[in-house]
Amino acid sequence: MKNIVILISGRGSNMQAIVEAQLPGARIAAVIANRPDAAGLAWAAERGIATAALDHKAFASREDFDAALAAQIDAFAPDLVVLAGFMRILTPGFTQHYAGRMFNIHPSLLPAFPGLHTHQRALDAGCRLAGATVHFVTAELDHGPIVAQGAVAVADDDTADSLAAKVLRVEHQIYPQAVRWFVEGRLTLAGQ
Ligand code: GAR
Repeated sequence: MKNIVILISGRGSNMQAIVEAQLPGARIAAVIANRPDAAGLAWAAERGIATAALDHKAFASREDFDAALAAQIDAFAPDLVVLAGFMRILTPGFTQHYAGRMFNIHPSLLPAFPGLHTHQRALDAGCRLAGATVHFVTAELDHGPIVAQGAVAVADDDTADSLAAKVLRVEHQIYPQAVRWFVEGRLTLAGQ
């Protein structure tokens, strides 16, 4: 059985998709948020999943927060840490500690559009395809070896919101799939 710890900051719909996939050989050991009011925490707690909140605003530095967060995560002995809408920039020490065992999902076809406002930027650039990427986390924000991508067509009348909704449906397919591959031991990391 592989222990999965999921980190969220808000509604946690990707976390829900992974929980609801009921992946064989995977146990959702905990859901942890950096915001005590993250809606996904209540959803997970209602399903009997251990939850914790660690408010980043209570820490003097990123390093202090990341050290406390890592201690919290490691208490659940994770095989895989899953960032699911976890909106924090992570310190190099933190990403190194979880090298090869931490995933992120990003709402663009990386390496295009790392960072924020991905859907508006894809529209502004005239992209005909948009999508989402699951990748191993490295020190560089929204970079790292790609595990899975899903693409959607951009319609002429798409707005940032309509595109986000389309891409989110794809996220809910590729994230459980990527976690399944990890749990099944089907992923190996070779460079990028
Ligand atoms: C998702 O669209 C995810 O790709 C994005 O935040 C949203 C979280 O939604 N993540 C990032 O932008 C990370 N750079 P959720 O809380 O419903 O899963």
